Amino acid sequence: MAWRAERRKPPGDCAGITRRRTPLPVLAAISPDPSKLADYLAMIKSAQNPEHGDYQANFAMPLAKTLKRKPPEVAAEILQQLPPNDVIETTSVAGPGFINIRLKNSWLAQQVHAMAGDERLGIAPAATPKTYVIDYSGPNVAKPLHVGHLRSTIIGEALCRLLRFLGHKVVGDNHLGDWGTQFGMLLYGYKNFLDEAAYKTDPVRELARLYRHVREVAKANDDDEAEKGNPVADAYRGETVKLHAGDAENVALWKQFMPPCMEEVNAIYRRLEVKFDHLHGESFYNPMLADVVKDLLEKGVAEKSEAAVIIREGKDKVSLIQKRDGAYTYTTTDLATIKYRVDTWKPDAMLFVVDFRQGDHFKNLFAAAKRWGYQGVELAHVSFGSVLG
Ligand code: ARG
Repeated sequence: MAWRAERRKPPGDCAGITRRRTPLPVLAAISPDPSKLADYLAMIKSAQNPEHGDYQANFAMPLAKTLKRKPPEVAAEILQQLPPNDVIETTSVAGPGFINIRLKNSWLAQQVHAMAGDERLGIAPAATPKTYVIDYSGPNVAKPLHVGHLRSTIIGEALCRLLRFLGHKVVGDNHLGDWGTQFGMLLYGYKNFLDEAAYKTDPVRELARLYRHVREVAKANDDDEAEKGNPVADAYRGETVKLHAGDAENVALWKQFMPPCMEEVNAIYRRLEVKFDHLHGESFYNPMLADVVKDLLEKGVAEKSEAAVIIREGKDKVSLIQKRDGAYTYTTTDLATIKYRVDTWKPDAMLFVVDFRQGDHFKNLFAAAKRWGYQGVELAHVSFGSVLG
């Protein structure tokens, strides 16, 4: 993936790039095989231990082998022949023949000045600009924001800014969790445990309380041994199903909950100076899901299994895209999302900035999307770890 910058020659008189090739004539003179030179140059790496210098060159060992000489000797000879230059401060030979190099502070300062004086910091714009969709942040807005969403927000925003700076077209899209079970929990909480006065004065706070309260009540009703299910969980799932089916009361309440929930996350985005081009949350795709499942069935990507619809992932793994009760899943929504984005923005790549726990989900999702016909777009999960404790 071409996310990385192409390094541009520093502007003005600062010929750092050519000067840095100083070892080449010396190497060329000593090396019997000119075809090896590129390999040798590639052996100049950042120093592993900064105490030894800024760079280390490891080519003396293979070179000595071809010359049938001792590596430290070859290393010393190369250093001796280095022409005077204003780049290198000190050199030394260490261990079996590593060459350590420390750069001159004055030269480094010159480079930094040249970059600072260039409005593009010495970075060339991409030769072939691409279109990227970056899917980031994605909080579940009925719940308090957690640190994983904060990380996705910051990493995603950084990617957007970097790719834009490189001259690519970037569409930043916040795939809000605005349609899931948490809203069923709020609906159930609202209908059963609402503190009306509290809701009037501070709706966000009351909704957060209701969410926590329903979760606790559901937990208290969890009794695995009884095997009769969890009546509270059943009840709030029922509310979610009704919402998705377009039940007038639940849809009206959902519309009422959304602005205060959004205000909660918007305050954080304002503080972080994060701006999205789009906030197409899960609810946005709801009207498309039936057609998506139909098309997946017609194209043979999905199949019916009892009353459900599944996509097979290898031998014995399946992804559910429509449950027996007719409900669609996270995967169905994400497939609709990929289709919508390709139809709308025709991107070269779509990056999903989500923590590593969803690695399997994205692996299966991308495989299904490819089978569905989306081979032309690069799909990537930009994964990051979770904060523990
Ligand atoms: N709301 C999701 C979660 O918290 C993240 C959404 C990531 N984006 C996506 N297209 N699935 O787990």
